[in-house]
Amino acid sequence: MASDKVSIHGAWASRWVFILAATGSAVGLGNIWKFPYMTGVYGGGAFVVMYLFCIALVGVPIMLAETLIGRRGRQSPVNAMKSLAIEAGASKHWSLAALMGMVAALLILSFYSVVAGWSLDYIIGMGRGDFTGISADGAGAAFGGLTSDPWRLTLWHSLFMLVTAFVIAKGVVAGLERSLRIMMPLLFVLLLVLLGYSFTTGHFREGFDFLFHFDPSKVQDGILAAMGHAFFTLSVGVGSIMVYGAYMPKKASIGATVLTVGLLDTLVALTAGLALFPIVFAAGLEPGGGPGLMFVTLPIAFGNIAFGQVMGLIFFVLVAVAAWSSSISMLEPAVAYFVEKTGRSRAQVTAALALLCWLVGMGTVLSFNLWAEAKFFVFAEDGFHLLQWGAEGGKTFFDSIDYLTSRILLPLGGLSFAMFAGWVLSRDAVREELSIRSPLLFNLALWLIRVVAPIGVLIVFIAELSK
Ligand code: PFF
Repeated sequence: MASDKVSIHGAWASRWVFILAATGSAVGLGNIWKFPYMTGVYGGGAFVVMYLFCIALVGVPIMLAETLIGRRGRQSPVNAMKSLAIEAGASKHWSLAALMGMVAALLILSFYSVVAGWSLDYIIGMGRGDFTGISADGAGAAFGGLTSDPWRLTLWHSLFMLVTAFVIAKGVVAGLERSLRIMMPLLFVLLLVLLGYSFTTGHFREGFDFLFHFDPSKVQDGILAAMGHAFFTLSVGVGSIMVYGAYMPKKASIGATVLTVGLLDTLVALTAGLALFPIVFAAGLEPGGGPGLMFVTLPIAFGNIAFGQVMGLIFFVLVAVAAWSSSISMLEPAVAYFVEKTGRSRAQVTAALALLCWLVGMGTVLSFNLWAEAKFFVFAEDGFHLLQWGAEGGKTFFDSIDYLTSRILLPLGGLSFAMFAGWVLSRDAVREELSIRSPLLFNLALWLIRVVAPIGVLIVFIAELSK
């Protein structure tokens, strides 16, 4: 029997809603923006293969760990870990891992909202036909025009944060479940329309080959990036999946459910790649352009091919919806925690936290324009500076938060969650929650959680820090 506790925040109607919610969290800018451009930067098929390995050996086991901790604890990640640790006779300080994850999720939300805001601006631009027949210079200037305008960025950032807070404030069932039931089918339909369209471009084969052509000489370049991305794309390491696990029905099998989420997320990333690369090739462009792929290369492509305006509009709506269903999962762990801790209403807690994230997000907004020269973490000849104006090295505010979260906090969080599920919770507790019938498969899952995932994270973490 799985744990009998219930969450005070509500419960999903069925395991399918958990799948919708966790897939909604997982599928986001990471799949549609980051995955295609990283594949472009790291040379196509070699990156894709490394990414698939990282998802299977590290990402999915950590997702299993998070879901089972959440469902067994039935509270916000911090309190779930605290009570399970006490029950297991371990230190309650394990909950610090969840606290760190919660802060990481809020930090990610602060910049995610800014980037998602760009897609809102592009929806308008595409709809108005701003990109029709646009040149490469024109598209670059359009993107530069957006990022250099703090007011325009603030407007979209505020709007995106507001719609995120709106869904969360309405609660687990009336807010999250209800909107996800609409967002997710819409997302899949839009993606399939784009894929269908890319078939008609006459360059599908080229896109396919780019994505799946395996060049072993490129494997080493992309491995660190692939691991970091596996965390980000599955939303693991921050407690978002854990809090969704807390709302999961008692009887659902975590093993099968989590595997479905992992597969769906991978499928969406690959489909996004298959849909986008042929469009890029059809416009005679190169896919290796880095982060600008979505906001510069694709608009040029859409501006110069048949039906590009409609397809471009569909694409940016897809991006916005995917980002929305992810951003709500970043706010939920902290909202659940502060509702439990303060007893205040969900709406009040949501408003306070969203405002906080919005404020931090303003740092990201300004890092593209007025604060572009403000560099943090500068290692210069005369020593270390936390902040130096106009320094050569260092990172902008946005880069610093991105680096801190995806390179440090997510791997550390993921490592702690896997260790907690694997070594602190009893084997019987894990068996009950996972409900994997075959002893062989159960042992495999446990071994992945206990040994393979932690070692994988540690290797990459150390390699990353010593770079
Ligand atoms: N998985 C999301 C994406 O691929 O865009 C990003 C994300 C969502 C990261 C939720 C962290 C999180 F808690």
